[in-house]
Amino acid sequence: MSWIKGFKCTTMIRGLIPWILMTNVMLVLYSLSSPNQLTVRVPQEETCPLSATKSPQKSKALVPQSSKSEECSPKVNVMFMKTHKTASSTILNILFRFGEKHKLRFAFPDGRNDFFYPSPFLCSQVKGYRPGECFNIVCNHMRFNQAEVAKLLPPDAVYITILRDPVDLFESAFHYYHRVVPLTWGIGGENKLAEFLNSPQSFYNPKAFNSFYLKNLLFFDFGFDNNLEANDSQIEKGIQHLAGHFHLVLIAEYFEESLILLKDLLCWSMEDILYFKLNVRKSSFVSRLDPEMRAKALQWNWADWKLYQHFNATFWARVEVYGRERMQRDVRELRRRNAEMKAICIEGKDAVEAQKIQNSRFLPWQPVGEKSILGYNMRQDIDPKFRTICEKMLTPEIQYLSDLGVSLWITRLWGWLTNKIY
Ligand SMILES: *[C@@H]1O[C@H](CO)[C@@H](O)[C@H](O)[C@H]1NC(C)=O
Ligand SMILES: *[C@@H]1O[C@H](CO)[C@@H](O)[C@H](O)[C@H]1NC(C)=O
Repeated sequence: MSWIKGFKCTTMIRGLIPWILMTNVMLVLYSLSSPNQLTVRVPQEETCPLSATKSPQKSKALVPQSSKSEECSPKVNVMFMKTHKTASSTILNILFRFGEKHKLRFAFPDGRNDFFYPSPFLCSQVKGYRPGECFNIVCNHMRFNQAEVAKLLPPDAVYITILRDPVDLFESAFHYYHRVVPLTWGIGGENKLAEFLNSPQSFYNPKAFNSFYLKNLLFFDFGFDNNLEANDSQIEKGIQHLAGHFHLVLIAEYFEESLILLKDLLCWSMEDILYFKLNVRKSSFVSRLDPEMRAKALQWNWADWKLYQHFNATFWARVEVYGRERMQRDVRELRRRNAEMKAICIEGKDAVEAQKIQNSRFLPWQPVGEKSILGYNMRQDIDPKFRTICEKMLTPEIQYLSDLGVSLWITRLWGWLTNKIY
């Protein structure tokens, strides 16, 4: 092994080992598990039929108390396009809880927690999928593919997603994924992020492995080209396409307002949207970008910026329609009830570092090579009537997926492998 001695790229080699192994494993799996891949044209009867619209069980008990004037029944068919690094894990927990409570059918991936991301979504990636079958909720990470998603859900399904300021999203993705993006391995200096933003073109290559994590990640997640020039009319077309398919686009910066609009749209109750922030990064791992760097990150992620601007504007137009004062009132109520739940459920009332989490059930998934994601300890002395709800609200995505019966062996193998190497 002396040839490695003095070779500057040992980290690069260490980083490559899991990828090579995983890529091989994945290729085999992919070809084994997606026999329907080659089906190009799908006859009409292969989509979830119109008649399949499921009405909620116990619908009487579900009628929300809030809207006295007009009665509505809770919507149970939901497509949540889970974007990366946007507080989407917190939304996922809400959907898991609602789905479990009402015994809804989730379209889950098989063996892992995403639908073969970054490959575009295909129905055949859904566990137990057979043409013509219907599901209630789709919510795992995917590269969005509207036509394929539509085959799984009744036509009345509500499409939602969440966006975040692309500058902060870029910072977060850069930090979270840099170890799996070979393009960043050669960046020198203390502050890799600043080095990169000062001359992105000298590091970036759209064809490189996992490069999409570094540019317009939102655009990529929605299934579009993430390397469009700032003046390309495809950006506007993409935005209009999404505007035509999503019923509500949440904004992470206005998370509580987002949940209130969601509750209103889905006709859910306040209890349904209570939450603890999941997957929060320890603040010492967050790079503060100065205005100059922010401007560069914005230019670099121009398509995402346009996307965010568009839906931030439509978001506030909806808040206006909902009523500003009504919104303020509801947000106060949500905060009050969340604080109440925190006091009931959480030891020390707040998130702690991964090392301090006593029960591995509540330990969130960590990025490759570090422990930067915070989690919670559940109180020991919980009033028994709150135990179940506390447990569910505190359970991170991977553990919750296991509870819901999803096999995660590929995800776990990957975690084990990277843990060994870093
Ligand atoms: C967009 O900008 C690029 C580079 O600045 C230029 O080469 C191209 O002609 C422009 N395209 C359009 C449609 O304006
Ligand atoms: C989003 O919209 C709000 C309300 O119009 C505005 O105050 C805020 O600056 C916008 N955010 C961005 C990043 O444009």
